[in-house]
Amino acid sequence: MEKTFDKIVSHAKKTGFVFQGSEIYGGLSNTWDFGPYGSMLKDHIKMAWKKKFIQENPDNVELQAAILMNPRVWEASGHLSSFSDPLMDCRSCKTRHRADHLISDFTHGEVSADGWTNEQMETYIREHNIPCPKCGSHDFTPIRQFNLMFKTFQGTVEDAKSTIYLRPETAQGIFVDFKNIQRTYRKKLPFGICQIGKSFRNEITPGNFIFRTREFEQMEMEFFCRPGDDQEWFPYWRKFCMDWILSLGGQRENLRYRDHTKEELSFYSTGTTDIEYAFPWGWGEVWGIADRTDYDLSQHQKFSGENLEYMDPNTGEKFIPFVVEPSVGVERLFFMFFCDAYDEETLDKGDTRIVMHFHPVLAPIKCAVLPLRKSYAEKAREIRQSLSYDFETDYDESGSIGKRYRRQDEIGTPYCITIDEQTMADGTVTIRDRDTMAQERLSVEQVREKISQAIRF
Ligand code: GAP
Repeated sequence: MEKTFDKIVSHAKKTGFVFQGSEIYGGLSNTWDFGPYGSMLKDHIKMAWKKKFIQENPDNVELQAAILMNPRVWEASGHLSSFSDPLMDCRSCKTRHRADHLISDFTHGEVSADGWTNEQMETYIREHNIPCPKCGSHDFTPIRQFNLMFKTFQGTVEDAKSTIYLRPETAQGIFVDFKNIQRTYRKKLPFGICQIGKSFRNEITPGNFIFRTREFEQMEMEFFCRPGDDQEWFPYWRKFCMDWILSLGGQRENLRYRDHTKEELSFYSTGTTDIEYAFPWGWGEVWGIADRTDYDLSQHQKFSGENLEYMDPNTGEKFIPFVVEPSVGVERLFFMFFCDAYDEETLDKGDTRIVMHFHPVLAPIKCAVLPLRKSYAEKAREIRQSLSYDFETDYDESGSIGKRYRRQDEIGTPYCITIDEQTMADGTVTIRDRDTMAQERLSVEQVREKISQAIRF
């Protein structure tokens, strides 16, 4: 069974996980709305991240910083001067392209132009006669750098003084609040500050469904440590992120580490690794783990004039901490888990079923309650209500039982329970396992216990 891009996207839309944004107005390109099941899947990804990165990790704490920040933040971080992509226009069909993408797409990912100068990219495109992917012409404008930050205005006057930006990453909120958190919470190195929130980038070439969008959610941690200790923490967090994916059912053969080459690394970074996933179109970045040294805090100290040094309580020594940053997009994880879970199975009688093998922790609905007759509805609703105190449940009384199972398989519900005559007599139900389709008879309390065990994470 080939998991094509079209199959996956169509399944996500058909089952109501994802809708086109502003659909009834003809849509707004590259915006996506997450329907009830999609919202639940996103929430479960975020909860699983918070559990492992914060709840179970005494060193780490959470922050929710404002999206809108003082514009000086973006001067300090370098986003105003250099957060840009190399853009070329095709003079024939007027389409816009990223020069580095023209090169990597033309070479099927064999050549990466990351870290190249504009001149190097223009030369490569000219010498290899790379055509416009839309019209085939070779008539490109020279490269212009295009800043990816969304601009807006604060207050009633729209001028340069009131210009502010939608944050392109959540990380800077963490750096700016580093001292507040360290002081108020009396944190000692090493410790991490974690944040989940929306980020915005005016991407030139968004696409591949929810893979590259202009509005997305990031889950980032800045892990502060003594200079030098970053050498130990960098491999630690690199492995931690991969283990987190695997513990949620990610398939190892579809994942790989990709270390950035020297040319690709930011000038301040001593190491960056991407965890990549084999999406239907090829390998794509899911998680970036970077050793950012003391660059960000030093820059904010310089631009704000505030002392952002840390004083070691044992030695009295003062220094700017180093930082290791694992940064991941919620929608990328969503897409990755969605692709991994998708399966088409041929059953005994030649029927096929689409089944989403989500890890129970991630599955939007943990248990569906299905009465076999309308007259059992009241009892079924009562059982559903009782189970819904502990986890997300669904209720379905329409159509044949086979169809109802299929509907739940398609959204990845790990357990379905049927309410039948025996339930009315002794309160027991049959519980069906999504993956094996095996059934057993249990009391409602045993069902609760079974599902609670399956979603322990
Ligand atoms: N603070 C570092 C940072 O933002 P990044 O590599 O630019 O680094 C981190 O982004 C992660 O955010 C990526 O690995 C990806 O998962 C997600 N991401 C970045 N741009 C995105 C976009 N346009 N659409 C969806 N997710 C994106």
